Amino acid sequence: MKETILITGANRGIGLELARVFVQRGWGVIACCRRPDEAAELQAIAAGSQGGLTIRQLDVTSDVEINSLAESLRGRAIAILFNNAGILGPEEQDYGVLAEEEWLTVFRVNTIAPYKMALALLDNVLLSRRRVIATLGSAMGSIEENSSGGYYIYRTAKAAAHMIMKNLSIDLRTQGVTAVAMHPGWVRTRLGGPQAPLSPEESAAGLFAVLTGLTLEKTGLLLDYQGMELAW
Ligand SMILES: NC(=O)c1ccc[n+]([C@@H]2O[C@H](COP(=O)([O-])OP(=O)(O)OC[C@H]3O[C@@H](n4cnc5c(N)ncnc54)[C@H](OP(=O)(O)O)[C@@H]3O)[C@@H](O)[C@H]2O)c1
Repeated sequence: MKETILITGANRGIGLELARVFVQRGWGVIACCRRPDEAAELQAIAAGSQGGLTIRQLDVTSDVEINSLAESLRGRAIAILFNNAGILGPEEQDYGVLAEEEWLTVFRVNTIAPYKMALALLDNVLLSRRRVIATLGSAMGSIEENSSGGYYIYRTAKAAAHMIMKNLSIDLRTQGVTAVAMHPGWVRTRLGGPQAPLSPEESAAGLFAVLTGLTLEKTGLLLDYQGMELAW
């Protein structure tokens, strides 16, 4: 039987390409996005997928929408829960700037939402054989790799998202769940900007290989799109 991946923020960037790759490889894809009506590229993939990809509305900061999604998916196995949705936050986040409300918004999307999704959909993940929960963190959230400072908001939200995944790897290990944080590389998306060396297609191809090769031995790691382990 087809395995299923659920992807948040699947209407553009890395999430869109990942949805495309998984459908092409014969997976079932639950592609979530905030505004399905405006997600033209995702709709085109769905139309050519023979039912393989379904689009679901989800703003990851909305408890109502998370709960209604979980309710509608009750009893359906999800082999990979992939928390992709993320935001960079305000342009100015260097030393000296303090944008507290925007900081909290970035935390809601990048950090708290992945935890809420894991809570809401754990039963679905447990129905699968693979049992993977993965969240796109970032090398920018690695304390060890931080040599240039700045980006206070994005860095702290991603570092905390990494900790969520580490915690899940410990708390859910006895239930056979593999929980990892991932870095997609520096990718040419709206978030990554035009100078980034990697295309979304290259990143998604790598993420596909790593995600589908995960086993419980890798739980609790921060892995990049090539499967390399990064320092926290
Ligand atoms: N690009 C890079 O170089 C890079 C590097 C490291 C990590 N990452 C991470 O990779 C992930 C994907 O980023 P990307 O580069 O593909 O960026 P992107 O093109 O800007 O896409 C971000 C996606 O997140 C969605 N999103 C934002 N807020 C949301 C919310 N409240 N609810 C649901 N969806 C929401 C966006 O949907 P809307 O269209 O509705 O806004 C969009 O689909 C992010 O977590 C990012 O931090 C990216």
